[in-house]
Parts: sequence; C-alpha cells; structure tokens
Amino acid sequence: MKKLRVALTKGRLEKSAVSLFEGMGLDCGDLINKGRRLILQVGEYEAVLAKAADVITYVEHGVCDVGIVGKDTIEEYGGDFYEVIDLGVGCCRFALAAPKGVDFFKGYSRKRVATKYPGVAKRYFDGKDMDVEIIKIEGSVELAPLLGLVDGIVDIVETGATLRENGLEVVEEILPVSARVIVNKASLKLRKSEIEKLLEQLEERSRVC
Ligand code: PRP
Repeated sequence: MKKLRVALTKGRLEKSAVSLFEGMGLDCGDLINKGRRLILQVGEYEAVLAKAADVITYVEHGVCDVGIVGKDTIEEYGGDFYEVIDLGVGCCRFALAAPKGVDFFKGYSRKRVATKYPGVAKRYFDGKDMDVEIIKIEGSVELAPLLGLVDGIVDIVETGATLRENGLEVVEEILPVSARVIVNKASLKLRKSEIEKLLEQLEERSRVC
C-alpha cells in the first residue's frame, strides 16, 4: 500500500511540524537532514516540504493526502479541501499597520495599502465599505510605507518586532492565524482509517494559541 503523503510548509512552520512528528515517535532524521531532497520518509509517512500555497495545491489535487499550512494561506487562497485541526502552533495574526502616530483612517483621500495577501486585505476593507488601492508586494511589506509607497500594510504580525523596528504600529487586528491540518476530500473517504489515525495523533498534540 502506498504511504500516506503529508505536505509540510517550509520555513516558519517547519520546526513545529518536526516537533509534532517527533512527539508522535516518528523518525524525523530525513526531515532534519534533508539536504536537497524533496520527498522525505517520516516513519510510516512520506513527507514533502513545500511553499505554503503549494501545500494547498498538492492537497487539493490529491497528490498529498494531508497538509499542514497556515490559516493565512488558507484565507488568501481558499481551495477545495477539509480544514480539520487547528494545531495551535505558528500563532500570529493578520493586522492593518501604519506608521506610528499616523491616523490611518483620517481624511477622505483614497488610501493605498501594501500586502502579500491582497484577497484578505480586500475583504477586510470591503467589510468597512472602504475603497482602498491594494498593492501586492512579494518581500518585506514593511518596506513599502517606509519608502512612501503606501499609507499602511496588511500583514502577519507575530512578535511585533518587525513593526517596532521600522516605526510602524498595529492600527487594527484583523484575524488570528495558526497552523491548520487540511485533508484531501477523496483521500478522507478512500483512506479513512489511516487518515483518522494520523489526525487523532495530531489533535492530541494540538494546543490553543
Ligand atoms: C512575516 C511577516 C512580517 C514578520 C512579522 O514575515 O510578513 O514581516 O513575519 O513577524 P514579527 O511580528 O515577529 O516581527 P516572515 O519573516 O515570515 O518572512 P516572509 O517575508 O518570507 O513572509
């Protein structure tokens, strides 16, 4: 029987995923010393490390059965899968931030906002009936207001250090974010017992942010 394949998000959530799997007693040697390999053996599972949006793509298309990905990415990209567990790791939040001491909402001029999450930002401002120009930035979004490109940013805030060190502050919190377990819809039907076993073990180790 093919191994269940789990897609893990590279970067920030990687360590938490390794801890979860280690906690389940699985051999994570491959995950820790991965070199340039992309498909890794983690105990009875096969793991792939991918960019967050790609985790969703692989799970949605069923080439990975289960994924661990941030709620931020789920909010931005959506997709057709089951979101089953909040792992309570990678805790942070979406926030609107602006230069310290500046009233973002003041005045009638159309505001400009930079973000890596244009979908999330649009929904947030639509909810306020505000017509805002949203500019997509790929790298450090905090740079855009410093350069004078925008009035504010919609971004992930974890410790708040990046904002502080760049003279920015949270104007309003938008949504809490944490790592979620997602499952391919067909996989859950076809490999129910195996997936439920994995989900139970993950849920046992989940926390509250
Ligand atoms: C995120 C986010 C902020 C920073 C916030 O970027 O875009 O820049 O973390 O964290 P803090 O509140 O603890 O300072 P990340 O470091 O994940 O890099 P990225 O630009 O590759 O998304």
